[in-house]
Amino acid sequence: MKADILLLPGDGIGPEIVAAAKAVLEGVAEKFGHDFRFEEALIGGAAIDAVGSPLPEATVRAAHTADAVLLGAVGGEKWDHAPVRPEAALLGIRKELGLYANLRPAKLFPSLKGASALRQDIADRGIDLVTVRELTGGIYFGERGFRTGAMGREAYDTESYAELEIERVARIAYELAEKRRRKVCLVDKANVLTTSGLWRKVVSDIAEDYPSVQLDMMYVDNAAMQLALAPSQFDVLLTSNMFGDILSDLTAAIVGSIGVMPSASLGATTVGMYEAIHGSAPTLAGLDKADPVGTILSAAMMLRLSFDLDEEANTVENAVESALAEGLGTADIGGTLGTRALTREIAKRL
Ligand code: IPM
Ligand code: MG
Repeated sequence: MKADILLLPGDGIGPEIVAAAKAVLEGVAEKFGHDFRFEEALIGGAAIDAVGSPLPEATVRAAHTADAVLLGAVGGEKWDHAPVRPEAALLGIRKELGLYANLRPAKLFPSLKGASALRQDIADRGIDLVTVRELTGGIYFGERGFRTGAMGREAYDTESYAELEIERVARIAYELAEKRRRKVCLVDKANVLTTSGLWRKVVSDIAEDYPSVQLDMMYVDNAAMQLALAPSQFDVLLTSNMFGDILSDLTAAIVGSIGVMPSASLGATTVGMYEAIHGSAPTLAGLDKADPVGTILSAAMMLRLSFDLDEEANTVENAVESALAEGLGTADIGGTLGTRALTREIAKRL
């Protein structure tokens, strides 16, 4: 098949890990006879430096015409006080592309058990879950501002959700669960927040469309505890934008390293965006130390979810797994290889 892939390297380690995933995609194209065309555009601090804005119009246009987008990372101290921060570009492009569902699979590879933050006997029970995080609503996009009140200066952010925003991401979670272990756990704070009440109602109302899926509900504080105590109980976690941001970092810690966690952002159109869940790690930038696995596994998700290339996606995932199983890896998982050497080892195993 022919596909146009837009690369958005961004900042920090972004360019290195995107180059790694591109090399693996080129290996896949060669092996399976596909024609992947790569284009590159600016985002984040790199875009601020080059053209004065973190999300240039040209980047948004290129994303709309691409078949899929592969993103590195954005942000860095250098731009912390920029009028518009690099992170705004990430939120902006998610919103522009209508990517309302963010899938963050957390799977404990047997070879990474030692790297997991969990006690061995807990890790031994296995972890294979996906957080489905709402990505274009909630407090990330709510009304915000400053004002002055009786206690001095005030700042506020607000959370609001519409039922259609909840329903569309919930359907993605249910459909994913149907293909997995058929369990959805809605994570919220329904004992305090009114938005959570609406989530519970909407998610329950559509449950009858997915009779094979078991629906549970859990408060977010308990969910955090359960992720540390008994993560093997979870299959699909469905949650709001901010809770998903927080819990997915926790799921990264329990599967060994934030460096190995991929993600896929999907929405109304077929253009998906794929990125590792970690940040730009400025202190590692340019040192050939970054873990490329999260971005390479994100590319595998692209193959499966945007291009319907299941066999190719499995090939990439198996190549990663076999490299890790042989003890190969970057420093974050206790390995000794650099970004480029690990990428070559993975590409060799395709
Ligand atoms: C993530 C990141 C982003 C988010 C930041 C960089 C804006 O933490 O993708 O998890 O909060 O969504
Ligand atoms: Mg985050």
